[in-house]
Amino acid sequence: MPNPNPIGVFDSGVGGISAMKEIRRLLPAEDIIYYADSAHCPYGTKNPAFIRRRIKKVAGFLTGLKVKIIVAACNTASIAGIDFLRQTYPQPIVGMEPAVKPAAALTKNGKVGVMATGVTLTGERFHSLIRRFAGDTEVITVPCPGLVERVELGLLDDPETERLVQRFLDPLVSSGVDTVVLGCPHYPFRLPLVKSVMGPSVPVPDPGNPVARRVAQVLEENDLQKKTKENGREFFFTSGNLATVGRTISILWGDDEEAKVKLERL
Ligand code: DGL
Repeated sequence: MPNPNPIGVFDSGVGGISAMKEIRRLLPAEDIIYYADSAHCPYGTKNPAFIRRRIKKVAGFLTGLKVKIIVAACNTASIAGIDFLRQTYPQPIVGMEPAVKPAAALTKNGKVGVMATGVTLTGERFHSLIRRFAGDTEVITVPCPGLVERVELGLLDDPETERLVQRFLDPLVSSGVDTVVLGCPHYPFRLPLVKSVMGPSVPVPDPGNPVARRVAQVLEENDLQKKTKENGREFFFTSGNLATVGRTISILWGDDEEAKVKLERL
């Protein structure tokens, strides 16, 4: 049966908006509820047990709003707790993983760089991804402390953000990787800078698109699409500072109007 209920998307903060934009592009009729857990951002410096407690609350909040699917638009949350979420909630749950598999298929010189948080890069799920899909590939990982915080503040183009991105990319340039994985949805907001530093011959696949395609596929397989013609709506909630998060979401979502964000402390 077609299902008019919304899609629930969450992230440690505003980064998951990059994946939500792709979901909106592929599924224009669906209503989408986004939760930014900005009061607890970044997740990447917290321990996995703390992250699981947070995402249980966030997924519980979205479930209370009757979402028909939950999208963990956060690599750190997915690595730390996607199995736990699937055991806890009845809806289909789509997570996000660094695109190691497509990168291993794209690389010509066998060297791939992965930018992500420390929790993602040390997680067993990430190592299992490498073992399964990139056994013959040299994977150079770069934790990027501080970058998520800049994006949270909407500081995309300022010199300090550019300096940070340059610094994180230095080891990837010097080790000669020919493909770069953005293992965190905050990073695509700096995609043009990453591309300009790495050069035109280095693919940097957009991590949001595979998530959106998976959401569309799961909705179709379970006959959960909305199936109406009118445009879907977006609803934003955050645990963080309303003024700051509201301003940043407006910048990242790119609507002419200021995004209407509600405070919801969980
Ligand atoms: N969105 C998170 C991720 O994908 C951002 C990082 C963080 O909260 O530390 O890893």
